[in-house]
Amino acid sequence: MSQLDDRLGTLLEDRKRKNRFRSLKEYDPSRSGLIDFSSNDYLSLTTSRSLRDAFISRLSTSSQIVGSTGSRLLSGATPAHRHLEDRLAVFFNSPAALLFNSGWDANVSFFSTVPQPEDWVVYDELVHASVHSGLRASRVRPERRVGFTHNDPSSLAAVLRRITNEPSGSQQGTVFLALESLYSMDGDMAQLPKLLDVLDDHVPRSRQCVVLDEAHSTGVYGQGGRGIGHALGEEGGWSEGEGKGGRVGVRLMTFGKAVGSSGAVLLCSPTIRSFLINFARPLIFSTALPHSTLISLECAWDLLQGPEGDVRREALMKLAIYFHAQLSPLLLRTPRSALTLPPSSDAPFPNSTNPFLPSNPLSPIIGLLTPAPHALSSFLLARGFIVRPVVPPTVPRERRESGYASALRWTRMWWIG
Ligand SMILES: Cc1ncc(COP(=O)(O)O)c(C=O)c1O
Repeated sequence: MSQLDDRLGTLLEDRKRKNRFRSLKEYDPSRSGLIDFSSNDYLSLTTSRSLRDAFISRLSTSSQIVGSTGSRLLSGATPAHRHLEDRLAVFFNSPAALLFNSGWDANVSFFSTVPQPEDWVVYDELVHASVHSGLRASRVRPERRVGFTHNDPSSLAAVLRRITNEPSGSQQGTVFLALESLYSMDGDMAQLPKLLDVLDDHVPRSRQCVVLDEAHSTGVYGQGGRGIGHALGEEGGWSEGEGKGGRVGVRLMTFGKAVGSSGAVLLCSPTIRSFLINFARPLIFSTALPHSTLISLECAWDLLQGPEGDVRREALMKLAIYFHAQLSPLLLRTPRSALTLPPSSDAPFPNSTNPFLPSNPLSPIIGLLTPAPHALSSFLLARGFIVRPVVPPTVPRERRESGYASALRWTRMWWIG
């Protein structure tokens, strides 16, 4: 073994000792008979017969079906890319839209380039790792990147008070607020209107830039699956007179989860779009989405906007409520040692009747805190359920009486289409 392998092996052994070792586990629910509670395919679009038929039919008539041949800045800027962007901008009520190869790329691109040294970035402590990776590469000084307690308006108010009371430069620059509409691990929704009211109390609209990551709500919530920001009428804030009333200037919609494909679109002002085309390295230096993916996305959005989308969304919500109701009494009978109480008394925990169960029954994501995520996951697998353990640092490490808590994430599988 090379010296490098030796050194890396030692680091991996260390990770195993800390119970953090990751490996790739392959399950094929369609063959194994296992029931999949772990994928993000919330609406089961990847197995939809009508989507498959529409996709194959469109592929057979399209002149371009494979690679895009280059970055959007070179040969990859095709009419098909622009068509999908224009369609999504209209659908989501946004003045502009920009496609990315993934939600990760979109967040990294935005947060590494758009906030400038004189700006502040305030973020919910549970926002996705891609936001943090973007910020690490940004020109915003570390002391100007400030987290607040998850979904807590009073913590946000305290952070904003501190920022606006800072003597130097606090009256200049933009205050970015980074939120998720449905949090990927806890499955709770952002208290959006309350958090935005707090922002309004401290920062004039002209200095605000709210960035809402809708990765887990794209396709699932709102009319036609337009997401939570749109459902609440909060899209807007692009420039004077535009998007009156709405306060969310930037939305991220991803296609790898309920949309059943891959890629993402950032909904923003034309100026931010142009800025990203000029400065965002993941966009400039990477091959654009292939035509086969664009075709799958056109077909998926046809479905999501039509009656089948409504039927699937309704079925998902019914099953989420059902699952929540079934799980509640089971958790009350589960030995205390197998579960951990959540860290705060705020949303999503505790539920008034069951402190171990998240209180949002309208979410396809249910996270349970446990000191034994691997053992519980193996126990469930032996009984035919794929439920994946999620361990720190993917979720925060919480010290409780019973030890360290990790999450066990139940998601999807409410609907087989
Ligand atoms: C909240 C959130 N944002 C962004 C991403 C990244 O999206 P993608 O999988 O398209 O890279 C994820 C994916 O897990 C996510 O959960």
